[in-house]
Amino acid sequence: MDRPRITIFDTTLRDGEQSPGCSMNVQEKLHLAQQLDCLGVDVIEAGFPIASDGDFEAVQRIAATVRRPVIAGLARACKGDVDRAWQALQGAARPRIHVFLATSDIHLQHKLRITREQCLEQAREAVRHAKSVFAKSVCADVEFSPEDATRTDVRFLCQVVEAVIAAGATTVNIPDTVGYTMPEEYGQLIRALRENVAGIDKVTISTHCHNDLGLAVANSLAGVQNGARQVECTINGIGERAGNAALEEVVMAMRVRGDRYPYETGVASEQLYASSQALAEITRVPVQPNKAITGRNAFAHEAGIHQDGMLKNALTYEIMTPQSVGVPDSRLVLGKHSGRHALALRCEQLGHQFERRELDEVYRRFVVLADRIKKVQDSHLLELIEDVVRGGVGLGATAADPGRKFPPATATLPLPRAATAAAGAGSSESRAAQPTGSDSQAEGRPGGTPPTNWFSGAPFAEHHAEQEDYLWGV
Ligand code: KIV
Ligand code: ZN
Repeated sequence: MDRPRITIFDTTLRDGEQSPGCSMNVQEKLHLAQQLDCLGVDVIEAGFPIASDGDFEAVQRIAATVRRPVIAGLARACKGDVDRAWQALQGAARPRIHVFLATSDIHLQHKLRITREQCLEQAREAVRHAKSVFAKSVCADVEFSPEDATRTDVRFLCQVVEAVIAAGATTVNIPDTVGYTMPEEYGQLIRALRENVAGIDKVTISTHCHNDLGLAVANSLAGVQNGARQVECTINGIGERAGNAALEEVVMAMRVRGDRYPYETGVASEQLYASSQALAEITRVPVQPNKAITGRNAFAHEAGIHQDGMLKNALTYEIMTPQSVGVPDSRLVLGKHSGRHALALRCEQLGHQFERRELDEVYRRFVVLADRIKKVQDSHLLELIEDVVRGGVGLGATAADPGRKFPPATATLPLPRAATAAAGAGSSESRAAQPTGSDSQAEGRPGGTPPTNWFSGAPFAEHHAEQEDYLWGV
């Protein structure tokens, strides 16, 4: 059965750019738009043309250069904004005008100082006007967003949505502007619109969730489960305040948990990491290390038990392959939580194979060292190995003179090329075995595969029995 296709609307260049420290110049926006095109997003919201000449030019340049995706320009619900957006979009192969107007009483009373009736009329008029500029165009693509929809009286929201559909809107976006809603509640709101608004089945319903309570992705998915077919999101989840729903998380949640979210997107997931890195480089805003999917720790393992499991079968601790999101490989980080199994492997990769007792000694010294310097690099390990092999200086002497050996390390331990190649063997995105009866077993690494040297592909020297392996992990 065909899975419903979800339109991925990327707003990194508009809502994302609104986050402090993330502004981009025209050239940088164009570069990122080209990367978003490679990523396979369906819609790129390129900017807010009335906001500045720079934004206008960026929308214009992107519209002229990036031809596959729809290019959207944002406009407030007034003639001047709509005309400016339309002007910027002139060269686009597939233009979209995105009109917004707040609908919650809080915004109407305190920000816009208009009545509900005035709001309804203004929304209707703005969409009509946007539609009229498309008069000679084949694709009359107009999106309307009732800003602060999730804090809007539902009956009034239904009225506004019905009015803009009648005026010609083709997509209706439901923003959780302040990141206030809960997944179940947001799902119910989308459902209520589908059940109560005349003409809603002719348009695409879209989600636009902010992350103030850390629920933007969960809310977006709840929207999709209740009938939304477009998700607005940003790379690395950047955006106003706590940000927007992270594109990479939405896409991979649907892909890895296709059993729960049976939807398709056009995103080439292997481009996710490159897109995340491109954005971080341009904005100089680093990705938080534990960021899902694209953070530097997303595929790193330090705990001994985890490293031991990974060396036997990656299914134990990874639910998707790093390659499926464009991350070159998994990393075993040698730190104080590492176990003998990972240490032995690294020693072997550095050309030193130890008997059990020797390895115990190397491990004993390694733990003392790791306690001091957080991450043990190859140079540190080689020095330590040399000491053990020569039966030379004890670690006590080294620890007493920290300036002499093992300077504090800051970089992470790189894996050798052979490791990378072997880790690259998997191709599909999901590593997780599906519930009984499912045929989507993970990427040629079924649970029964005997342990091999996961990083080098060659059989890993057996230093110890299976049960000991587990204890070694500790
Ligand atoms: O969060 C919001 O309400 C917006 C609208 C302009 C869509 O970004
Ligand atoms: Zn927003």
